[in-house]
Amino acid sequence: MRRIIVATSRLLITLSALLATTPAMAQQEQSQEALTPYILPDAGPFLPRDLGDENNAAIAAWIGSAHADNASEAFRHWDDEGEIAPACSVCHSGAGFRSFHGLDGSAPGLPQSPIPTGGVVDCATCHANGLAEVKAVTLPSGVAHPVQGVEAACVTCHQGRSAGADVEKAIADGAPDTVNAELRFINPHYKTAAATWLGGYGKAGYHYEGKAYSGRFFHARPVATCVSCHDPHGLEVKTESCTTCHEGEGPRAFRIRKQSYDGAGNTAQGIRTDIANNAELLLRTLQDYSAEVAGVGLLYDGHSYPYFFTDANGDGVADTGDNGRPVNYASWTPRSLRAAYNWKLVTADPGIYAHNPHYALELLYDAIEDLNAPLGRDTAAMGLLR
Ligand code: HEC
Ligand code: HEC
Ligand code: HEC
Ligand code: HEC
Ligand code: HEC
Repeated sequence: MRRIIVATSRLLITLSALLATTPAMAQQEQSQEALTPYILPDAGPFLPRDLGDENNAAIAAWIGSAHADNASEAFRHWDDEGEIAPACSVCHSGAGFRSFHGLDGSAPGLPQSPIPTGGVVDCATCHANGLAEVKAVTLPSGVAHPVQGVEAACVTCHQGRSAGADVEKAIADGAPDTVNAELRFINPHYKTAAATWLGGYGKAGYHYEGKAYSGRFFHARPVATCVSCHDPHGLEVKTESCTTCHEGEGPRAFRIRKQSYDGAGNTAQGIRTDIANNAELLLRTLQDYSAEVAGVGLLYDGHSYPYFFTDANGDGVADTGDNGRPVNYASWTPRSLRAAYNWKLVTADPGIYAHNPHYALELLYDAIEDLNAPLGRDTAAMGLLR
C-alpha cells in the first residue's frame, strides 16, 4: 500500500487501488525495494468501482502525456547501459527524482548508485510524501530558488543543465574574435521552461556586460506557477483560462505589446513570431560571423548532437570527416560561443514566448548586436527592439 499526498491540494488520495491487488503483484511489490520505479501493470487492478473518478481522470490524462511516454528518447536513452547515471536520473526517472530530494528515505543529493531504467515521470514524482518540505531548488547558476508545493517538481526537472556562468568560465578572458580550438558548444539541455521563466534572476542565459535583464516573468494574477497554465497530468496548456485577458486564436497569436520587436512593424502577429524571427536572424548572423570573422562556416542540425557542424567551403552542406560523418564545429570564438548558447537556450524552450518573452527578446537582441559589431553592421538601422 502506498499513500500519496497531493501536496498542493486539499485532498489526501490513497492510490492503493492502483497498486498490488493480485497476490502475484503484491509479492512482487514486497520483493522489490522502495526505489523500484512505478510501472503500470499490464492487466490491471483497474476496476472502475475501485478507482474513483478523480484518479481515473488523472490517469487518463497522464497516460497520454509526454511524462508517461516510456517509448521516448528521454526515458529510453539508457536502455543499452541498463541503468541511468545518477546525474541524469534526477530528471529522467521518478525514482531518481525521489532519491535526489530524499523522498525515498535516502539522504538528499544525487542518488548513491545508478537508477534502473524503465521509469517515467510517474504519479509519485509529484505526489511523493515530503515534496511539500522541499523549500528551494538550486539552479545550474547556483541560484537557490524558493519553491512551494509541486513547483518543486517542475523546477527541478525543467531547469536545464547549464548557466551563462558556464559560458563565461569557458571563454574566460580570451580575445572575443580569436578562434580557440579548445572551445566546445555548451548545450543548455532541453525544455528548460523553468530556467527561462526565472529569467535574469535565474541566470540561465549568458548576460552581456553592461546590460540589465528582466527577472522572473510574473505575468498577472492569478497566473503564478506552471500549473496555472499547464494541466498537471495532460500537460497541455489550458487555453480557456487565458481568454479572460487575451484575444487571439490560441497562445501563439497572443500579444500585449504595442511595438514591433523584429523590425517588421507587424503588431498583429503573436509575440511568438517576433521572437522566432529574431532567433532566425541571430542564427543567420552567427553563420555570417563564423564564415567572415572566425573564418570557418557553421551549420546547425537540431537532430544530431552536438548540433553545430563545420561547413568550411560554404556550400551549405556539412563537411564530412574520414569516418563519413559530419565534422563537429571547432572554430568557436568567445563571441560566437556565447551567441550560440543564447540562441539555443531561447529556441530549446518552445514556450519561451509565454514563459518569459522579455528575457527571450533581450538575449536575442544582445547577441545580434554583439555579432554585428565585428561584421560592421548597424544594429540601430535594423529597427529591432530589445
Ligand atoms: C535538470 C534535469 C535534467 C537532467 C539533470 C538531465 N536531463 Fe536530459 N532532459 C531533461 C528534460 C526536461 C528533457 C526534455 C525531454 C524531451 O523533450 O525530449 C531532456 C531530454 C534529454 C534527451 C532527449 C533529447 C531529445 O532530443 O529528445 C536526452 C538524450 C537527454 N536528456 C540526456 C541526458 C543525459 C545523458 C543526462 C545526464 C548526463 C541528462 N539528460 C540529464 C532534463 C534533464
Ligand atoms: C508532474 C506532476 C504530476 C504527476 C506526474 C501526477 N500528478 Fe496528480 N496532481 C498534480 C498536481 C499539481 C495536482 C493538483 C491540481 C490542483 O489542485 O488543481 C494534482 C492533482 C491530482 C489529483 C486530485 C484531483 C485533481 O485532478 O486535481 C489526483 C486524484 C491525482 N493528481 C492523481 C494522480 C495520479 C493517479 C497520477 C499518475 C497517473 C498523477 N496524479 C500524476 C501533479 C501531478
Ligand atoms: C522527474 C522530472 C520531471 C518533473 C518532476 C516534471 N517534468 Fe515535465 N518533463 C520531463 C521530461 C523528461 C519530459 C520529456 C518527456 C518525453 O520526451 O516524453 C517532460 C515533458 C514536459 C512537457 C512537454 C510536453 C510535450 O508534449 O512535449 C511539459 C509541458 C512539462 N513536462 C511540464 C511539466 C510541469 C508543468 C511539471 C510540474 C507540474 C513537470 N513537467 C514536472 C521531466 C519532468
Ligand atoms: C502563462 C502560461 C504558462 C506558464 C505559467 C507556464 N507555461 Fe509552459 N507553456 C506555455 C505555452 C503557451 C507553451 C507553448 C505551447 C505551444 O506553443 O505549443 C508552453 C510550453 C511548455 C513546454 C514545452 C512543451 C512542448 O510542447 O514542447 C514545457 C516543457 C513547459 N511549457 C513547461 C513549463 C514549466 C515547467 C512551467 C513552470 C516553470 C511552465 N511551463 C509555465 C504556457 C505556460
Ligand atoms: C489575468 C490576466 C491574464 C491571464 C489569465 C493570462 N495572461 Fe498572459 N499576460 C497578461 C499580461 C498582463 C501580460 C503582459 C505582462 C508583461 O509583459 O509584464 C501577459 C503576457 C502574455 C504573453 C506575452 C505577450 C506579449 O506581447 O509580450 C503571452 C504569450 C501570454 N501572456 C500567454 C498567456 C497564456 C498562454 C495564458 C493562459 C494559459 C495567459 N497568458 C493568461 C495577462 C494574463
